[in-house]
Amino acid sequence: MCGIVGYSGNKNAINVLLDGLKALEYRGYDSAGIAYRTCNRIEIIKASGKIVNLEKKLKKNTNSNMGIGHTRWATHGKPNETNSHPHRIGKFTIVHNGIIENYESLKKLLIQNGYKFKTETDSEVIAGLLDKLYSEKNDILKVIVELKKLLIGSYALGIICDDIPDKIYAVRKDSPLIIGIGDNENFIASDVPAILKYTNKYMILDDSEIAEINDKVNIYNDKLDIVFKEAITFEGNLEVAEKNGYEHFMLKEIHEQPEVIKNTVSPFLKNGLESLNDNMPDFGKYNKIDIIGCGSAYHAGLIGKSLIEKYADIPVNVYVASEYRYKKIFTDEQTLVILISQSGETADTLACLRKVHEMGINTLAIVNVVGSSLAREADKTIYTKAGPEISVATTKAYLAQITILSLIALAIGYNKKLISEKKALEIIDSYEKLPSIIEKLTCYDYKNIAKALYKKNNCFYIGRGIDYALSMEGSLKLKEISYITSVAYPAGELKHGTISLIEDGTNVIAIVTDKNIADKTISNIKEVKSRGAVITLIVADKIDDDFDFADYKVVTPSVNDFISPMVNAIPLQLIGYMTAKLKGCDIDKPKNLAKSVTVE
Ligand code: G6P
Repeated sequence: MCGIVGYSGNKNAINVLLDGLKALEYRGYDSAGIAYRTCNRIEIIKASGKIVNLEKKLKKNTNSNMGIGHTRWATHGKPNETNSHPHRIGKFTIVHNGIIENYESLKKLLIQNGYKFKTETDSEVIAGLLDKLYSEKNDILKVIVELKKLLIGSYALGIICDDIPDKIYAVRKDSPLIIGIGDNENFIASDVPAILKYTNKYMILDDSEIAEINDKVNIYNDKLDIVFKEAITFEGNLEVAEKNGYEHFMLKEIHEQPEVIKNTVSPFLKNGLESLNDNMPDFGKYNKIDIIGCGSAYHAGLIGKSLIEKYADIPVNVYVASEYRYKKIFTDEQTLVILISQSGETADTLACLRKVHEMGINTLAIVNVVGSSLAREADKTIYTKAGPEISVATTKAYLAQITILSLIALAIGYNKKLISEKKALEIIDSYEKLPSIIEKLTCYDYKNIAKALYKKNNCFYIGRGIDYALSMEGSLKLKEISYITSVAYPAGELKHGTISLIEDGTNVIAIVTDKNIADKTISNIKEVKSRGAVITLIVADKIDDDFDFADYKVVTPSVNDFISPMVNAIPLQLIGYMTAKLKGCDIDKPKNLAKSVTVE
């Protein structure tokens, strides 16, 4: 949700900012812009649309050693050039990620003071406010402290003041911001990939801090005392931000999944059941679990519910974060709230964490981005080891999330003696085999299924139990990248209204992996088949039927319930991918979406 970047050093700032913006483009791609200092003045270049449009407008040999940049996911105002950042008023030029909730009243106040605005954005008031405060106080750090008191909402800001030639100021609240540390050069960025070409050292700015950046970095608290922070070294390399020969990041990330599974499970399994327990929080005192997430993280929670209820015998409720944060919550000290998030910065998920903390409820975060807000604020954190995910549609992070949830079900079930030691060891063994199973399924040819689908306007995904949870993620993958209206339905529920939409040629993708209820789902598939549906069946090898009703069939290996969701998610990811590819969609950057949703 908007990416910001800033640079001060001895390199050509325009090139550094452009590299940073390209690496952050997954956060928003409605428009982009940069501001840089050249010949003692600030030059601003903006363009609507993707970063390549901005790139065409830049004179890259211009001499400049400092600047700020922004790639936008529009919230207030159309995604046109005027509304794109940076915004400049008086002596101040800013880039902003987040939402200023009280911008209208601030704007009124500034207008009364003679300020004029050019854009429809909430962000422009920040530049006006800084200019007004600076004209009164003339001390930039005190001005920023004052600014923070006046702003309501979320923000990560890169700030340049005309009077302070080489310095960038940065401040944040509830929106991510890191400070990249180089040799006599420093950076600000919304996320690590933006700086990786230049440095792998960074600091995370806290909500209460202000950063002052040129060839040195000073961090101040809100009393303006200097704060000493250790730099973190990013473990990984630049390859994460490159496609490495794959046509899209999404495809690359799908292919990375065998490695992701190995990395995610290895701390839990390297020493058998002992390390499983050593690396898990103590779940002993909980008799109820609430799982919270948005988008695919919510769908991962549904898989977790199915496994934890079945194998750990604990009731689990799964909620979409934007609903949970405003609902009446029934919890007590025996309730654990699990928050799932790839980015660890999703505004609604973070708000839920803060809400339940205020109620004194214990929290566990399942997070991909190390050091993210959710990871830092939760009582306990388990990291998915998916590495940076660039494609807006998640694949590897989702797979890592459901892997952790299945390990949680195993750990609780084993410790409650609901799963015997022998069985638990067999299950552990199966996680070791999972990467090669996934690899094989990744190589299957899904083109025929996609061909039957890519010209259609709608599609239904059906399944029961855990297969319904998988259907929801499969359906989301298809709709978000191919723009085909797609609905996931519990197979048995279709006949209560929705079946009226099934006609000759309607595509239905059915998932049947649970032997206990396979017959029931198969009956439901036949009901839609007899009304003209084109059936694609994702079916586990162990299900016995001749499947003569299926037009297309993917048979997945029979595996235990703990690893089955990871296995059966693969065809769903690739059906979505191939369909969007045949349609010629911009797969890594679907329209209207952003990877990290840091606004409500
Ligand atoms: C966005 C992304 C989804 C993601 C959701 C939650 O909508 O496009 O892929 O599942 O946010 O993000 P999180 O970072 O909290 O997992």
